[in-house]
Amino acid sequence: MRRLFSIVIAMALLSFFWASNDSSAGSGEALFVSLKCAACHKPDLKATAVPLAELAKAYGDPAKLVSFFKGESPMIIESTKSGMMKGQLKNLGALSDEDKKALADYILSFK
Ligand code: HEC
Repeated sequence: MRRLFSIVIAMALLSFFWASNDSSAGSGEALFVSLKCAACHKPDLKATAVPLAELAKAYGDPAKLVSFFKGESPMIIESTKSGMMKGQLKNLGALSDEDKKALADYILSFK
């Protein structure tokens, strides 16, 4: 009985780690959708704002993008519509470091 119990615990732990691994892979995309970034930024067509592919090319390095999310570096893409993005920076700044990194990695994956 005891043995069965520890097997059940071990399996529960395993599936927990499995699940959390899985979700960290997709969490950048989930954040991108839940923060409504996707309303203006599409993968590779110019909608309201620059496509992800262009953002990925302009930044090149997730660390640079994280620094933009933290408000530590200015916008680098020249645009007359930059004001639309400024309003997003409060949400971005409020994310945990881990989430900022996940979001940056997701955007950079379009390079
Ligand atoms: C209301 C529309 C809108 C939303 C929502 C939006 N953006 Fe933007 N974003 C823009 C516009 C406009 C620009 C300026 C460039 C351009 O004209 O396309 C921009 C620029 C950017 C840039 C480039 C900044 C630079 O260095 O010049 C990044 C990175 C970015 N957005 C990421 C995001 C992320 C991440 C989210 C979700 C939190 C988001 N955007 C949500 C409209 C939006």
